[in-house]
Amino acid sequence: MSKITPQVNGAQLFTKHSFKGEMTATRPSPVFVASLSLALVAMTSLALADGAAITQHGNTRRALACMTCHGAQGEGTPTSGFPRLAGLNAGYLRTQLDNFAQGRRVNAIMAPIALALNDDEREAVTRYYAGLRGAASTAKPVPQTNVPGASLANQGRWSQGLPACIQCHGAMGVGVGSTFPALAGQSSIYLENQLRAWQEGTRAPGPLGLMKGVADKMSAADIKAVAAYFSALPPSQSTLGSKP
Ligand code: HEC
Ligand code: HEC
Repeated sequence: MSKITPQVNGAQLFTKHSFKGEMTATRPSPVFVASLSLALVAMTSLALADGAAITQHGNTRRALACMTCHGAQGEGTPTSGFPRLAGLNAGYLRTQLDNFAQGRRVNAIMAPIALALNDDEREAVTRYYAGLRGAASTAKPVPQTNVPGASLANQGRWSQGLPACIQCHGAMGVGVGSTFPALAGQSSIYLENQLRAWQEGTRAPGPLGLMKGVADKMSAADIKAVAAYFSALPPSQSTLGSKP
């Protein structure tokens, strides 16, 4: 990325030709023209922010390298609760970065990182992750249906008005569009943290408050069981090959 910072000030903008204190002509100076082209160069390089480079090195405004926590291929660090980002929908990821930056989603690690990314960098990095496959999964290809968590995930619990998770998150938790993120193959610690965050109000209710409504009806045991269930499913690659 270009490190050029165009410094344009009023005095440089125009050369004022005056005669006996009187202004007679104002025309753009070469300095102004040069500044303008530098500004254009800077804008072009921003628009082309390199998503892969940011994940590897961070940026000059102190965004940390994403891969330290989210893995070399976006697979996450499941045991630390650092989520998998590979193959998640770009629009969904982008909304979450904006949420961290604007405090709608409270997280001490991600807030300063999101704030250190400008608009184009957020766009570049989320597109990059959406197109990644992630490291090979050790998840079983077919989930067991008789494990705790399976019935809540696939049937819900209608006595409580709790819909099946897959109604919104798609069969096998592969995710649906930019609104309903993939849960399959996600870190179980991370999934538990999110469900608790909704219960505790540290994550914004999101579209139509749907997830806050779901999470509020879940017990601690439900959360553990359903998180374990989805984390054992093969990770979603639903966005692979599709344009973000
Ligand atoms: C020091 C570790 C760390 C680094 C570095 C880091 N993250 Fe994160 N990231 C986290 C944690 C922890 C969470 C989960 C926060 C929570 O529980 O809400 C997270 C969550 C996210 C999410 C939300 C995922 C979802 O499914 O909603 C996105 C998007 C994200 N990070 C993007 C990035 C990007 C892009 C970078 C690099 C510019 C980055 N992160 C660097 C630790 C990190
Ligand atoms: C009525 C639709 C709906 C149902 C049913 C639903 N969800 Fe969600 N879920 C959402 C939406 C919408 C989001 C995105 C929220 C946001 O943008 O912050 C979401 C996000 C999540 C996330 C955050 C994922 C991430 O990457 O950060 C988790 C975890 C989650 N849901 C778990 C569940 C579980 C477990 C169930 C079943 C018990 C379930 N959901 C049922 C709509 C639903």
